Amino acid sequence: MATEKRVTTATLAEYKRAGKPITMLTAYDYPTARRLDAAGVECLLVGDSLAMVVQGRANTLSATLEQMIYHAEMVGRAAERALVIVDLPFPEAQLSIERTVESAARILKETNCQAVKLEGGSEQAGRIAALVQAGIPVMAHVGLRPQYVHVHGGYRVQRNAQRLLFDAAAAADAGAFAVLVECVTVDVARQITEQLEVPTIGIGAGPHVDGQVLVTHDILGMTSGYLPRFAKVYASVGDQIQAAAAAYCDDVRSRRYPGPEHGFS
Ligand code: KIV
Repeated sequence: MATEKRVTTATLAEYKRAGKPITMLTAYDYPTARRLDAAGVECLLVGDSLAMVVQGRANTLSATLEQMIYHAEMVGRAAERALVIVDLPFPEAQLSIERTVESAARILKETNCQAVKLEGGSEQAGRIAALVQAGIPVMAHVGLRPQYVHVHGGYRVQRNAQRLLFDAAAAADAGAFAVLVECVTVDVARQITEQLEVPTIGIGAGPHVDGQVLVTHDILGMTSGYLPRFAKVYASVGDQIQAAAAAYCDDVRSRRYPGPEHGFS
């Protein structure tokens, strides 16, 4: 898989035209990104969810630009085929447009990644247009926007259909190559997908979107604590890590490890 041609924003547009589902997963480090890339995932997202998933924080607001670049550099180096998209962390896409363009340009220059994602729709149209004009591909993110968790009043399903359709259309009109749609009803996600020429990538948005994204730690069974209803678990890596560590401790304590084969003479 990894030797196939690189997935680009144009590839995603072709997938939409052909009705071919797009796959996307989050990635934060080199070894995991290599495996996801080899598995044939089309897009890797270096999400600011790393604040929660990797750093154990309560929300994504604390992720910094330096941290995003640190993780994106590892993922960008690992991915041979996947399109790698990096989240603009709070508040890089909320302050001046100049600052957003500078931050996004740093991401593209200092990592081997190809695009950025920013949260927002119609209110971000000018910013999206400026980024695209600067040569920086943008995925927009509408619906539940985790950077606005305090404005939303929690992680809630977003139900204002008119506003969601308007946001998605404005982001696409401004030049976004795709629109991520988070935690909206199945019907609204379908309407957005039918309305847009660019692909939609859903998370908690049902089946009628052009692609799906999930947090890799959720699908691997690495998430301790709350697991969102839309996440599907495909492995028990967390349990396997704990069992392996416990077996190692047993071996050391009972002097079964190291054996003669692990020593030098
Ligand atoms: O930061 C992230 O990982 C995301 C996904 C949940 C879509 O934005």
